[in-house]
Amino acid sequence: MTTSIAGRSEAALGGPASIIVRQRREHARLHELVGRVRDTAGTEQDEVLTQLCRLVFPHAFAEEAVLFPAARRFLGEGEENSLEIEQEHQEINEVYSALERSRRGDEGREKLIERAIALLDHDVRDEEDDLLPRLRERLDDRQLRRLGVSWEIARRVSPTRAHPAVSRRPPGQTLSALPLTVLDRSRDNLDRLARSAPAPVAAGSRAVSRALGTVAGLVEHLPPFERGEHPSTHTPRTELES
Ligand SMILES: [Fe+2]
Ligand SMILES: [Fe+2]
Repeated sequence: MTTSIAGRSEAALGGPASIIVRQRREHARLHELVGRVRDTAGTEQDEVLTQLCRLVFPHAFAEEAVLFPAARRFLGEGEENSLEIEQEHQEINEVYSALERSRRGDEGREKLIERAIALLDHDVRDEEDDLLPRLRERLDDRQLRRLGVSWEIARRVSPTRAHPAVSRRPPGQTLSALPLTVLDRSRDNLDRLARSAPAPVAAGSRAVSRALGTVAGLVEHLPPFERGEHPSTHTPRTELES
């Protein structure tokens, strides 16, 4: 029986640089943003949903690249160590993609927001109450810190948006990181510019960001990026497959 990491001291979890403490810090921030999604509406809620997206996707992408492969390696109980969480990540990617395609007032948008929140809550509980405590039992503080640094580096260079078509596992997942990170982070800069620039510049920034979004949609469907994928996290890539 494992004990959740939720109430344990930082020292007991490997110190501030450990992957477990870093995870818990970001989960607290995520929880705070979810609360603000519930308390806001209109353009203010759109802004919070964007902030939540920029926090969640690099966090999850870095888990898929660093944390789950480590869990499979160190916990030695086969793929069950991470598969359920990867399936949750896949659904979060799909729900957020649908949310991005929807507009305020669209039928079903509220349900998508509630589903995204429920999945995020569940994902955090699976990690804090099961996966991370078992990792704590198996690894010493140094190993937890080393994993923490790798995860932090991966998080800072990960895509910032939902990409349901790519594999949730290396090597496809990690191969896709470079082009998708460049595209996503360029779009983030353009979107930021659009919020503060004069109207003509803002319109141009938005148009380029949308075009890069189309490119990202094509890139994530490239066959190398599905390598290593578990069949249960596969999203149909063409109309013919669906
Ligand atoms: Fe996490
Ligand atoms: Fe996660």
